[in-house]
Amino acid sequence: MSFDDLPANLRTTFVPPPRLLMGPGPITCDPRVLRAMSYQLIGQFDPSMTACMNETMALYREVFCTRNEWTFLIDSTARGGIEACLISLLAPGDKVLIPVFGRFGHLLVEIAERCGAEVHKIDISWGEVCDPALLEQHIIKVQPKLVALVQGDTSTTMCQPLADIGRICRQHGVLLYCDATASIGGNELLVDEWNLSAVSVGLQKCLSGPSGSAPVTLNDDAAAVIRRRKHVEAGLRTADHIAGAGQRIGSNYFDLGMIMDYWGKERLNHHTEATSMLFGARECARILLEEGQQKVIERHMLAGKALALGLQAMNLALYGDQQHRMHNVVGIWIPDGVTGDAIRSSMLHDYGIEIGTSFGPLHGRIWRIGTMGYNARKDAVLMTLACLEQCLLRAGHKLSPGAATAAALEAYGAVG
Ligand SMILES: Cc1ncc(COP(=O)(O)O)c(C=O)c1O
Repeated sequence: MSFDDLPANLRTTFVPPPRLLMGPGPITCDPRVLRAMSYQLIGQFDPSMTACMNETMALYREVFCTRNEWTFLIDSTARGGIEACLISLLAPGDKVLIPVFGRFGHLLVEIAERCGAEVHKIDISWGEVCDPALLEQHIIKVQPKLVALVQGDTSTTMCQPLADIGRICRQHGVLLYCDATASIGGNELLVDEWNLSAVSVGLQKCLSGPSGSAPVTLNDDAAAVIRRRKHVEAGLRTADHIAGAGQRIGSNYFDLGMIMDYWGKERLNHHTEATSMLFGARECARILLEEGQQKVIERHMLAGKALALGLQAMNLALYGDQQHRMHNVVGIWIPDGVTGDAIRSSMLHDYGIEIGTSFGPLHGRIWRIGTMGYNARKDAVLMTLACLEQCLLRAGHKLSPGAATAAALEAYGAVG
């Protein structure tokens, strides 16, 4: 078929419609990140490329609040960062303990099972977080090599406190992996102070970027476990390369040891670095650090609080334990008599605003509204509340018009 015979929509460049992404992620990308990603490519071993990689490592050490040498990017979405950490830390038969309080805890279980690990779960009711004392009891019983958990489980909006868990894991000599994809930037994450052994994240939430790059950080204990499983591909190997005594990591793409050799002094080729994502990730970190970590967290707290107050002023009930809610996403029970998907559809098609529902047992029962990264802004919060109010009024939900934005404005005004 000639190009001219293709349907008209295939012959034109795809131009996405304007949207305000107020769901649980992805969120509207910061234009600075898009600009950084539009620069021309450079070769993988060009000194300016390797310098950019080193600078990105340095920037992410700041973002993760760590001195970990091994802080670098995995070229994949956040899920690939999780998979890389788990498959590199867990050999078949290793014991892993996973508290599950939402969809992403279940994801950790699934990935760990696929690593061939012996998986022990702690089931926590959705809408709550894991009590450190309960985790310690299970550590004593199971004696795992690794505890794996999610900091901010976007599916339930809960944020797991980590300081005590880090201390407990250290006392028991257990490695601690954390998926902080949805929480980093909007909530405190102190990798060294909390003794987190390995953390992976994504860009598409409070870091204001697109999905497609997964920053990770590994402390010395985690790096040592991975180094014991060192492997160099046959085509790259020289007499100097000695394989580790441990079992070879069960994935080539996600072999963190090989990726460390690529990002480290050896510069041994692994994949072809996703250069545009590297440029984007570097800019995400710069944007966060330029504003200041604490200021960014406070901006998320304020946006989350203003949104939550506005929603309550619309006679809506918030989902889950509010003491442990992430700053950057609010869950809302869909009120009786209202069809959740119809409201989401009206928000999208009438106002260009995306909000989310949730997964599994919460699908169609709650909405999730995110105020993250570039969108943790007063105008985005007010616009979302005003439009949602109209949608709810038309659906027959009883509310007092104007109360939502007034409550949100008050939250902003109260802080100045
Ligand atoms: C907490 C958490 N972990 C992991 C993921 C998976 O990220 P990705 O879709 O980038 O693979 C998400 C995505 O929403 C998430 O919220």
